[in-house]
Amino acid sequence: MQAGLREALLAALRLQIEFGADEALEAAPLDRLAARAPAPAPPEPPPGALAKPALAQPALRSAPTLPLVTTPAAATAALAATAQSLAELREAIANTDSPLRDTATNLVFADGVPESGLMMIGEAPGGDEDRQGKPFVGVSGQLLDRMMASIGLDRRQNFYLANILPWRPPGNRTPTDGEVAMFLPFMLRHVALVRPRHIVLLGGVSAKALLRAKDGITRLRGRWHSLPEPGGEGVAGLPALPTLHPAYLLRTPSAKREAWADLILLRRTLDGEVPPG
Ligand code: URA
Repeated sequence: MQAGLREALLAALRLQIEFGADEALEAAPLDRLAARAPAPAPPEPPPGALAKPALAQPALRSAPTLPLVTTPAAATAALAATAQSLAELREAIANTDSPLRDTATNLVFADGVPESGLMMIGEAPGGDEDRQGKPFVGVSGQLLDRMMASIGLDRRQNFYLANILPWRPPGNRTPTDGEVAMFLPFMLRHVALVRPRHIVLLGGVSAKALLRAKDGITRLRGRWHSLPEPGGEGVAGLPALPTLHPAYLLRTPSAKREAWADLILLRRTLDGEVPPG
């Protein structure tokens, strides 16, 4: 077996064990006492019947949309539009006045490889990220790295990471709607500059903001959506997969099953086995 393949399989196995899957189980409970009967053969189609159609791929669905909140975003939208590179965007964010900037230690702009084709968007930096100036370096980031390793992806080569909020909210509180509205134009510009082929939205704050969705993450996750673009930001139609935030998975181990299904969908999409829609 190739060394790379072996490593990838071991990473996937390690994640399964960490997720609590220490036994091979089926989706439906197995009655081990029931007599084993051979499965009945499917009935023959009547002569002349149409062949069964191939399994339909799920349709690319746009999430229900919310009107864009323009007022708090107007200033940052104008500023974001002037950034012609990631370096200029970083500069613009660093120079934008915000109460969050006053309480944070470091700007947390991004990490990973912008040219990789895969961009992951989280919510906001926590304490570790604030100290190091890099997204997803704390406990939930470490879980994210192990999850991505389980499908053969490494942030140093295969993906790029950023957050809706570039500054840590004090006490790691959830970002307010106003903060999200203020920083969303920067994120849209960020996406437009990176131009990823696929996007993963980590958690409800990121998914709802980027998809302009009313639904929560449990309804949005598990299928590809198409990014809307009410303001001409240059991101329309990019495929985005919402999934559960790793911090939520740390608090809710039973949700790891759904997260694993999303990882598999991501891997199969990157491999071209299923279209992002
Ligand atoms: N949670 C996030 O959403 N982003 C980070 O960078 C860290 C934790």
